[in-house]
Amino acid sequence: MAEEVLCRLSDLDATGAKEIVLARDGGRYAFFVIRYEGRILGFENSCPHARLPLNWTDDRFFDISGTYLFCANHGAVFDPLTGLCTRGPCKGQSLKSFPLRVDGEVVIADIA
Ligand code: FES
Repeated sequence: MAEEVLCRLSDLDATGAKEIVLARDGGRYAFFVIRYEGRILGFENSCPHARLPLNWTDDRFFDISGTYLFCANHGAVFDPLTGLCTRGPCKGQSLKSFPLRVDGEVVIADIA
């Protein structure tokens, strides 16, 4: 997979997150991008507990407080800066992150 524009910064305004699904070469790649404490971060949308997508609805990845990432399936809670699960059935495991860069108004990743 080559360098991809994942979203615009303004896509993060409503919920602080943007779900991204890329279809390439017969595969489906699910990610999400967040803005948290002024940083832009990206994770694969796959919970370490049961490898399900974290969200049940579009672009909803944060808990009600906006402080933690939350898996809607069985309630795992993750640190948004590290992806580490701090509470729930996969405590101690982490979401898989990937490097991003921001170029003007767009978020770009080289996802291999
Ligand atoms: S699939 Fe995420 S907590 Fe179970």
